[in-house]
Amino acid sequence: MFSFLRKKKQHPASFAGMTDSHSHILPGVDDGVREMETSLSILHHYEKLGISEVWFTPHIMEDVPNTTEDLKARFEQFKKEYDGPVKLHLAAEYMMDYAFEQRLADRDLLEHGPGRVLVETSYLEPPAGLDNILFNIQAAGYTPILAHPERYLYMDMGKYPKLHELGILFQLNWGSLGGLYGKHVQERAFRLLKDGLYDMSGSDIHTRRMYPYYEGILLDEGDSLPCE
Ligand SMILES: [Fe+2]
Repeated sequence: MFSFLRKKKQHPASFAGMTDSHSHILPGVDDGVREMETSLSILHHYEKLGISEVWFTPHIMEDVPNTTEDLKARFEQFKKEYDGPVKLHLAAEYMMDYAFEQRLADRDLLEHGPGRVLVETSYLEPPAGLDNILFNIQAAGYTPILAHPERYLYMDMGKYPKLHELGILFQLNWGSLGGLYGKHVQERAFRLLKDGLYDMSGSDIHTRRMYPYYEGILLDEGDSLPCE
């Protein structure tokens, strides 16, 4: 009786003062935003939400062979176009494929803060030797940040705390909480959030069509979006 009375209090997620730690806003370099005008419009939207910092993290993988030098040059060019208050940073989102292992050996990496690298795997299956690759990143002196771990439905739930204990940082996608990638990813994201496993979060924005998925997020009382 009156079960609705027992429902937990919820509140809309706040983005005020947040750092977007993962985005595809730098135009024309991957499957994210294509036009400068759209990139600027997203940043102006961020200003209204109160987001204070954003990491541009273009894909680098065998299929999207961006180079460190080219991305740096494009980022410098971009900063001349934007004069608003959102602080901009450049890193990359590295697929842990063979090309990445070569870049790691060459130390040719765009860092996500000193000594950190944002890495991802396929959504369908882990790369062969995932544990070894993560270990090799750490052995090379870097801290891996695993992008959107909740999207790796192949991963056993017991694996997450083990990886986190090994010092691998976790980055939550806002859209995962908002249902953008389906119910299973959403449930996993809320589980990992409740378990306190996230170190940071971000939009992973590719297009403005993603706005409703992270602006409609409802969090339980006491919960907030992870931010460093
Ligand atoms: Fe991404």
